[in-house]
Amino acid sequence: MNDLIKLLSIKKPIIQAPMAGGAVTPSLASAVSSAGGLGSLASGYLHPDAVETQLLEMKQQTDRPFQVNLFVPKEEEAPSGEQVQRWKELIPHANRARPFTSIQEEWQDFYQKVDLLVEHRVRICSFTFDLPPEDAVKKLKDVGCILLGTACSPEEALLMEERGMDAVVLQGKEAGGHQGAFLPASKPVELRALITETADRIGIPVIAAGGITDEKDVRKALALGAQCVQVGTAFLVCKESAAHHVHKQKIFTASASDTRLTKVFSGKEARGIVNAWMEENKHREQDVLPYPYLNTLTKPMRQEAATRNDPSHMSLWAGQGAGRLSKEMNVKELMEKLWNSKGT
Ligand SMILES: Cc1cc2nc3c(=O)[nH]c(=O)nc-3n(C[C@H](O)[C@H](O)[C@H](O)COP(=O)(O)O)c2cc1C
Repeated sequence: MNDLIKLLSIKKPIIQAPMAGGAVTPSLASAVSSAGGLGSLASGYLHPDAVETQLLEMKQQTDRPFQVNLFVPKEEEAPSGEQVQRWKELIPHANRARPFTSIQEEWQDFYQKVDLLVEHRVRICSFTFDLPPEDAVKKLKDVGCILLGTACSPEEALLMEERGMDAVVLQGKEAGGHQGAFLPASKPVELRALITETADRIGIPVIAAGGITDEKDVRKALALGAQCVQVGTAFLVCKESAAHHVHKQKIFTASASDTRLTKVFSGKEARGIVNAWMEENKHREQDVLPYPYLNTLTKPMRQEAATRNDPSHMSLWAGQGAGRLSKEMNVKELMEKLWNSKGT
């Protein structure tokens, strides 16, 4: 049993990735926790009241540890009116988009969620998209909460350690969904190189994320120096996941080369299965509106496509392990596939 498994009070070195956008429900996350892994709720895009409802459900469904993930707001330079107008003309249904949220509103949402975690004594909290602010770190640590940060480079991992994180999720470029990188110089790196370059430079445990779908992958990551793995796409296609059935089906039939990193859905780099929207806007990758502006404008388009079961304009987030996922399992079966060994 390694330090991180002990710290998190789990039985298997498996963390179900927090996945904002609807796939993660308390029944998915609690099934992971009950099977000896760490289930994760994703608070991104959810109103604090909805997070509280999920927290209460989670506590009813499992007495095992779980974590809640928070998006750390990041102030970006606002795009010009002209740039916004250009994208509005390109994006179907953009006229139905809600007004942009201000950075003040985003911080208010963040701190409301921090207060909720404190109030409900959530044992583990993770962050993505930036370093969490020092006052939030203090508030959570004062009630004994274990903190996990996300990094995509050794430099980011060092900053996470300095900020007081208890462990760091190293997210490789194979990972599905958004990259959590926050330093402008960070470029997506393969997981293997990222762990090798980082593990010896930091004093906190490493969690490996990106393209992991079976026990062989888990063992490789542990052999490189990680103490746990964080798995997203493989849980997204589980029976208990609330991901759209078209999204699941696309993952079952995709190969690794069918996925690509793109900014044209949200303004931030994320890996998904290539579809018409990505292809049509390939030449605009360098000219996107920053996150969350573009994300706000494409939301009605993505929702409309989901309602019509049309994958051409949905964000089909998936990691490079998609090519090795071909049938729906329940969480218990996937947990066995990821870690079948007795003891750790
Ligand atoms: C649909 C989807 C949504 C995600 N949302 C979040 C999130 O809310 N917070 C977060 O820290 N990571 C998020 N991620 C990234 C995961 O934490 C993790 O790095 C990634 O899933 C690992 O790669 P894999 O999908 O190949 O297993 C998301 C990933 C996916 C596929």
